[in-house]
Amino acid sequence: MSYARIIGTGSALPDRVLTNADLERMVDTNDEWIRTRTGIERRHIVSENETTADLAETAARRALDAAGVRPEELDLIIVGTTTPDYIFPNLGTLVQDRIGANGCAAVSCEAACAGFLYALGIAEKFIRVGESERVLVIGAETLSRFTDYTDRSTCVLFGDGAGAVVLAPDEKHGILRTQLYADGKYRDLLYFPSGVSRGFNDLKSGKDFVKMQGNEVFRVAVREFIRAAKNIFAATGMSPDELDWFVPHQANLRIIEAVAKRVGIPMDKVVVTIQEHGNTSAASVPLALDVAVRDGRIKPGQTLLFEAFGGGFTWGSALLRY
Ligand code: COA
Repeated sequence: MSYARIIGTGSALPDRVLTNADLERMVDTNDEWIRTRTGIERRHIVSENETTADLAETAARRALDAAGVRPEELDLIIVGTTTPDYIFPNLGTLVQDRIGANGCAAVSCEAACAGFLYALGIAEKFIRVGESERVLVIGAETLSRFTDYTDRSTCVLFGDGAGAVVLAPDEKHGILRTQLYADGKYRDLLYFPSGVSRGFNDLKSGKDFVKMQGNEVFRVAVREFIRAAKNIFAATGMSPDELDWFVPHQANLRIIEAVAKRVGIPMDKVVVTIQEHGNTSAASVPLALDVAVRDGRIKPGQTLLFEAFGGGFTWGSALLRY
């Protein structure tokens, strides 16, 4: 069986930037609190007419260019997102039609901030069993659409963006292992209360907002990130010393630092983009990956660890040779 190898990466960010200073004018917060409690300095926010599909399309095109793969060569597209343009048609099909990959399988995967890791774990299996040859995996979000910009405990955290990778079979290098987890008993700690079947809470405006008990999420996220990292090293017989880069979900710099310390990964081997992007949910890992690939830090043959954690809770990890 072949490995599924990442042969191209891409990302996209909206032009509009929301800084901590901007937020100081909107809610009772300050730059010092946001930077020291989260590590975030700015985040990108879509304009009124921009949607998740726009960001996903741009990231996809850039990943395909980097991979040297034509859209018509794709046989599967999976998009991790919790902020799709529509309930259906799914975001995968919107991207598929825009880039001209019509006919291949296309679907989106809803696992909150772990959406990209789940999509990657699924895509990788299609390649391993020989069912797919060229797969596009995307994480794309417009979290600003369900962020309450009067709630200082959440609005400082989230940003919009997209990241994408193209996978292809490779005999030598690729994804060594993915491990996915979920525990639905934590559903009330981080959730979006509206849905087609349950209806919308605020019928007047048709708007609803993300709800989060931040410090509880923080506690479980740190614990499970550490456990997931230890599990994947044990499952592959590798050790943190062999790692070149840790590319974690960018939710809070303090979470990243606590996990890196406990797992035994020095911070100079951690890709940190949270200061620029905030928490972009399913987009965060592929966005950080693309930044570090394009600035030359991540090189072919290096060993990488991805981890993400989000509402549900859902979480997961991937260990790979890039
Ligand atoms: N500016 C200023 N003060 C703020 C604030 C803000 N933006 N947000 C909260 N505070 C205040 C609180 O009101 C509280 O004040 P009090 O002590 O007077 O009651 C104080 O800061 C501490 O609040 P707390 O929620 O305990 O802070 P924290 O250190 O846990 O940091 C988060 C809050 C949200 C940054 C942190 O819990 C976190 O990042 N959690 C994980 C979130 C996450 O990862 N979510 C996504 C998972 S994918």
